Amino acid sequence: MRKPIVVGNWKLNGSHADNESLVTGVLSEMADMADMAAIDVAVCPPFVFIPQVEGLATSMSLGVGGQNCSEHDSGAFTGEVAPGMLFDVGARYVILGHSERRAMYGETNEIVSAKVKAALAAGLTPILCVGETLEERESDQTEAVVRQQLAAVIAGNGIAAFERMVIAYEPVWAIGTGRTASPEQAQEVHAFIRGQLADHDASVAQSVRIQYGGSMKPANAAELLAQPDIDGGLIGGASLKAEDFLGICRAAADTVGN
Ligand code: 13P
Repeated sequence: MRKPIVVGNWKLNGSHADNESLVTGVLSEMADMADMAAIDVAVCPPFVFIPQVEGLATSMSLGVGGQNCSEHDSGAFTGEVAPGMLFDVGARYVILGHSERRAMYGETNEIVSAKVKAALAAGLTPILCVGETLEERESDQTEAVVRQQLAAVIAGNGIAAFERMVIAYEPVWAIGTGRTASPEQAQEVHAFIRGQLADHDASVAQSVRIQYGGSMKPANAAELLAQPDIDGGLIGGASLKAEDFLGICRAAADTVGN
């Protein structure tokens, strides 16, 4: 049984005041939810707010992560943040290869693989994002695109590295659009991802957690999370409202033991 994991990707949102009310809102409800220990929950604020959020999330029930990191550890890389720096300020996760970074900041599969390597070496848990655009889906390339995205990371890091990672399947056409993949569409790709990993190592494939991301909300979370290969969610917009984020966490906790 894989432990569900729900992670909030705040993207370019937040302020000291807003973060405080959001995180304290989430934590106060979580404290009363007995089954929250059955799932992992984390939030990924913009870099500059990680120390604040880490300080607020004193109870171990809420982890903190970055939304990106450099593939380098130190040196002349103006504007970058090293994975070791994230770890140093309390982050334990890092989202890598998000489609917004692939599309807007030129991150190739090889760069993403190098970032995974650096993050693992720093002790972080990478959340590796994969997923196809609408054009790719409509031209039947979903599996080919996802296969290449994964293959680069397997080639660069080895299959055993996936024991220390989380994967997020995020169809680009479902991100921020309100257009969620159907549970069947998502399950199909999740099973494909697990199958590709199983071609290398069956036990790693069985243990790795694969989140779904793309317009996940309290109203659609339960049916997505009920799919056999969907092990949690990577949440954008709905992670900025305590009630919505908690609703998804509850749906994930409800799947445990069912
Ligand atoms: P939305 O939940 O806003 O669609 O964003 C999903 C996402 O990109 C999470 O990384």
